[in-house]
Amino acid sequence: PPGTELDDDGALVIAGCPVAELAETYGTPALIVDEGALRARARAYADGLAARWPNSRVTFASKAFPCTAVYRALTEEGLGIDVASGGELTLAVAGGADPAGLVVHGNAKTSEELRMAVDAGAGLIVVDNFDDIDRLELILAERPGREQGVLVRVTPDIRPDTHEAVSTGQAGSKFGLLLPEAREAIARLRGSDRLRLDGVHVHVGSQIMDTKPFEQAVEAVAGLGTFDVYDLGGGLGARYTYRDSPPSVDEYLDALVDSARGTLPAAARILIEPGRSMTAEAGVSLYRVVTVKHGRPTFVAVDGGMGDNLEVSLYQQRFEATVATRVGGGGPVRLVGRHCESGDVLSAGVPLRDPRPGDLIAVPVTGAYTYALGNNYNGARRPPVVFCRDGRHRAVVRRETYGDLLRRDLD
Ligand code: LLP
Repeated sequence: PPGTELDDDGALVIAGCPVAELAETYGTPALIVDEGALRARARAYADGLAARWPNSRVTFASKAFPCTAVYRALTEEGLGIDVASGGELTLAVAGGADPAGLVVHGNAKTSEELRMAVDAGAGLIVVDNFDDIDRLELILAERPGREQGVLVRVTPDIRPDTHEAVSTGQAGSKFGLLLPEAREAIARLRGSDRLRLDGVHVHVGSQIMDTKPFEQAVEAVAGLGTFDVYDLGGGLGARYTYRDSPPSVDEYLDALVDSARGTLPAAARILIEPGRSMTAEAGVSLYRVVTVKHGRPTFVAVDGGMGDNLEVSLYQQRFEATVATRVGGGGPVRLVGRHCESGDVLSAGVPLRDPRPGDLIAVPVTGAYTYALGNNYNGARRPPVVFCRDGRHRAVVRRETYGDLLRRDLD
């Protein structure tokens, strides 16, 4: 990954921090984030979009990595924040996000969450269904003088070539409103006194490896009429393995803005909501080998797994991996976790160089949806998040303790 290099002994150094020192300081498993790479990606997105379409903003889809340090870093880089629950809203505000730059999502937002969003001063709330409109009307009726900006989420019936579980733009999706219903919602909102219809939103899926679905999505929302705001969602794929070749941020922005020119009103404001492609490549998971079981295949089992990375179990995502202090190829092994099921795999076949118990293993490109989907299966304590920059490191999330595991149990 960008920002990583090897020292004279062939050990990995992340943003100037030797992996052995990180493991010594924070233990394993740990999620290491190259803070400079994260911020550089944010700037590439923000500058790239502004250069192509000045009236625009990049809004980070924070579900990809919802911890306060990430909210803070990306807010400092000038990004808006997309939240999809009361929990993410709370974390975003705690991380210093400007409420006016919040975009609030969810296909089943409760009245409580909508109230939280209105009272926090969230800039935009995305209407996903007619109940959202009813609930917001009631909430605003209790707050005389308040007006709330909203977008309508449109489901354009576009099916990107990606894993079924992360495809959202097709007919039959639980998200958003199909074009006829979207038109009805738009008409209702245009007649509302308290809800100000600012525009439309579309998000067709995640880990998308070509630009076509994004272009189709722009065309679909363009046909809905003239609005002030077009939120074009996220979805750009990350480069998990050497074989993956997603469009670059620039290629993605070119495709998006080329489609927008001529189809969207020139005065409109464009928002985009990258999540995965913002944070994935800045993260490296560090594990320690607990045991090696030689055979066919040879199993290398580490001290983490599906408690801290569900991407493989849920979406069959492929990852690269290396012995962090002895980078280089070797015989293929199956890199597995410590959890009680056979699906607990980090990499089904990866060449590791002479792996031994006690070795450090690095799994790169784990900065998106790993922390977010972290869990306590088998009583796992969720790992710390460590920011590295220019040879300095600091924990921004501590490791869970056994005390944390007991904290909510009342009997
Ligand atoms: N905007 C909306 C409304 C979304 O629902 C999402 C992702 C994004 C933006 C950001 O999409 P991205 O740029 O990250 O592709 N848990 C799955 C990913 C689910 C994505 C859900 N929505 C995973 O771990 O792969």
